[in-house]
Amino acid sequence: MMRAGRFSRVAALLAAVAMPQAAQADDLAPTGRWTAYEGGNADLPPMGWNSWNAFYQDVDEEKVLASAEVIVASGLAQAGYRSINIDDGWWLKRDTADGRMVIRADKFPSAALADGTTSFRPLTDRLHAMGLKAGIYSDIGRNSCGQTFGHGNPNNPQGTVAEREVGLYGHIDQDIALYFADWGFDYIKVDGCGIRGMGADNPNVQNGTYRALDPLIDFNSIARTDVPAVKALFSEVGDALLRHNPDGDFTYSLCIWGSADVRSWFGSYGNLSRTSEDIAPYWGRLLHNFDSAARRALYAQPGNWNDPDMLFVGTGDFDAEHMTEARSHMALWSMLSAPLIIGFDLRQANEEQLALLGHQGLVAINQDAAGNQAVLAYDTDEVQTLVKLLADGTKAVALFNRTAQPKEVTLTAEQLKLVADAPIALRNLWTDGQSSFTGETAFTLAPHETLVFIADGRRELEEGFYLSEMPGRIHVAHDGVDVPQFDPQIHRAITPWQNTRSIGERPRYTGWGGARADSAPYGQGLSIAGQAFATGIGVLSGSRLELRSEGFARFSAVVGIDDSATEAGGPVRFELYGDGTLLAQSDWLEAGMAPAPLAADLGGARLVELVVRRSEGGDRAVPVTWGEAALTRQPAQASGS
Ligand code: GLA
Repeated sequence: MMRAGRFSRVAALLAAVAMPQAAQADDLAPTGRWTAYEGGNADLPPMGWNSWNAFYQDVDEEKVLASAEVIVASGLAQAGYRSINIDDGWWLKRDTADGRMVIRADKFPSAALADGTTSFRPLTDRLHAMGLKAGIYSDIGRNSCGQTFGHGNPNNPQGTVAEREVGLYGHIDQDIALYFADWGFDYIKVDGCGIRGMGADNPNVQNGTYRALDPLIDFNSIARTDVPAVKALFSEVGDALLRHNPDGDFTYSLCIWGSADVRSWFGSYGNLSRTSEDIAPYWGRLLHNFDSAARRALYAQPGNWNDPDMLFVGTGDFDAEHMTEARSHMALWSMLSAPLIIGFDLRQANEEQLALLGHQGLVAINQDAAGNQAVLAYDTDEVQTLVKLLADGTKAVALFNRTAQPKEVTLTAEQLKLVADAPIALRNLWTDGQSSFTGETAFTLAPHETLVFIADGRRELEEGFYLSEMPGRIHVAHDGVDVPQFDPQIHRAITPWQNTRSIGERPRYTGWGGARADSAPYGQGLSIAGQAFATGIGVLSGSRLELRSEGFARFSAVVGIDDSATEAGGPVRFELYGDGTLLAQSDWLEAGMAPAPLAADLGGARLVELVVRRSEGGDRAVPVTWGEAALTRQPAQASGS
């Protein structure tokens, strides 16, 4: 597979070299429609519980039900935590006679049916009767993560080599039908270990325990990863989910940890996508996982969410002795519109921990209907300020101290895109205290502390919203990244499962150069010909963004090649489409040219597309800026602009 994959990549590369314009023109042609994945039930980030962080593979029915009972009794279900998800460890084997999966009934007694077969239906019925949903776990390869990496051995599948092939590979339709139509699950997490680590060099392949599957994913090399083959497998699962869930009530969670350039395509394939390797219950790992999602606001939208992994509130650096860290974890995941999936044995939870998980204000931020992932308004390795526009027009703001020292932090009206000469009301979500400031205000953050406020003031742009305030309305169809590169801006934490035996945490999640809100693609401030923009969209040329524009009458921006461009790659042309029809376009713009206004009335168009074209023969991507890009309520005539 790997060999075939490499050849197909070479063929694709050759084709691209031969006809760059044709390839580009196809990618950038307006479609007039929203092309993100709209299957499943994930208009809001999923909430629930998962067995992995609490029990790893030592999962059983009693433990699952015990946490489900606490979820109901404590009011967490009422707060929104409804999906009870079983992770790795539930499977005994695949029955090779008919290919049907067999459950480890010694761990899940209700699964043993009178006729000798096994079914999760009794358990999912029970969860449904409790007002909950049920989630299951599988792998896109032939084998699970436990089998691939040798963890959780006592609960790994048993039997012959073929019987131990419990993953979806070769059984996608059969397994999805079984899990959803027959067993009644509502949610699936699809891992990718079986297409990552089951090559001929795996010791358990060498000793004959498992069959080799040439890896499609090489985590350390995007060039050696067969992205089209990975996409094809996940797309097959998506199709099967649609087929076997006629009511569309399912959640599809992809778990390939930011590999295979999944950031650039998951939004067209599923509801959730893990942005990094596993979280672990310590501070460095929280930073790592947070960073893997924090600069990707434009890639998340209702239906498709960045997943920096499950919550670890309750354990290690986030346990009852470390409530500052636990509160930061919960606050940051809420701001990121991340799935809130509890990973704690809730029988051990105290009142304060349950109250944190159920914190009404934070859950409301996470579950806000606008679906805007927070955008970084201030970004350093020490302190970050995140701002998330809520559906009611107020803003959630989080001030995050990453360090182990206290920090003085200034919050400005400009960071909130609110005017500096009118009072801004702040409600502190931890104390419920109200305050007000004009212009700027300062706080002292304790080590690892995150303060969260709801801010309300007079908007800089009173008649509409900047696009960078509304990442939930944007789907990045093409971000102009031709050659995916690893993102170097992610905190490099010790991976606890390796400790310091390895060469350390090297960059390996692609996404460098992706589209950004209020930032140039490589992290610089937005700037055209020396003019800085506090707000806008930074992206590479050769890109197409889809923007839901219902409720707005006009688009406006000032555009040009961003000053962060390090080499001549222009000229570029900015094009604006409404429901597939060209509304406006810029001239061909060179680097160093003054920002050019680009605006049009939308005439009722519900979908705007923002295209930046490279010139004939201009095959290089350059950073470009949609400065002050905004949607406003009045057409030009009415507003007189
Ligand atoms: C992978 C996933 C984890 C968990 C384990 C199970 O590592 O990333 O979240 O599901 O597999 O083995």
